[in-house]
Amino acid sequence: MENKILEVKNLKTYFYASGNIVKAVDDISFDIGKNKVFGLVGESGSGKTLTALSILKLVAPPGKIVGGKVLFDGINLLDKDEAYLRGIRGAKIAIVFQEPASALDPVFTIGEQITEAITAHQKINKLGAEKLAMEFLGRVHIPDVKKVYHDYPHQLSGGTKQRAMIAMALVNSPELVILDEPTTALDVTIQAQILDLLEEIIAKEKLSILFISHDFGIIAKMCDRVAVMYKGKIVESGATKQILNDPKDKYTIALLESVKALS
Ligand SMILES: Nc1ncnc2c1ncn2[C@@H]1O[C@H](COP(=O)(O)OP(=O)(O)OP(=O)(O)O)[C@@H](O)[C@H]1O
Ligand SMILES: [Mg+2]
Repeated sequence: MENKILEVKNLKTYFYASGNIVKAVDDISFDIGKNKVFGLVGESGSGKTLTALSILKLVAPPGKIVGGKVLFDGINLLDKDEAYLRGIRGAKIAIVFQEPASALDPVFTIGEQITEAITAHQKINKLGAEKLAMEFLGRVHIPDVKKVYHDYPHQLSGGTKQRAMIAMALVNSPELVILDEPTTALDVTIQAQILDLLEEIIAKEKLSILFISHDFGIIAKMCDRVAVMYKGKIVESGATKQILNDPKDKYTIALLESVKALS
């Protein structure tokens, strides 16, 4: 167990709407090794984002986590209260969302948002936080760090916004980073640049990653192991190489076919 950073066991997240139950996450289990990149792949609506939100206990009504465990370093986060979870979110577990535009607050500058993220979790003065924020903006290869620091989100390109989001996710040296479709909203060339950046960061930093994508091509490039989701369930999981060479499930095969069709 000591080599696992996250163990999801029999997780169930359901929506209760007008007499109907939608089983968005339906009894899934997987675990992520320390310093490994684990992929969660599946078509749109299969339950990937709900899985990520459930891990951080961020599911909003009418959604509800109705069963299972999320063991982070052996501790079940689903048993913990908000105060405990606030100490985990953005500090030990960071998340980068699909849409950088919706994750950044339009009324604060990039610098204000990153320093806020730092001071929420670290004992550090304003100047120290500012220095750290700039350092991390440099680390994600933002060329004009000083300018971007003082810019508002709408002043930045999609790629730069996503770099800023990645910097913000890394500033508190998290143990686990959840990347939920981190390149889906970007143009293809920018997508490739962000994937290169993520590869570089993963190689350099001691990070464990949950990498979510609907694109098996991206998952194959980034992940050691992968689980394939379909309609709330994991239909197949294992080493990425093995699944690429010998997919067993029909939905896995369909996802792989769509990558082949594109390339
Ligand atoms: N507010 C809601 N009310 C009812 N059902 C919902 C709600 N939000 C999500 N769901 C259900 O949960 C399912 C899983 O959604 P989720 O966002 O996790 O999919 P996803 O795999 O991340 O898709 P995408 O690739 O489009 O991001 C959806 O198919 C939908 O049926
Ligand atoms: Mg999603």
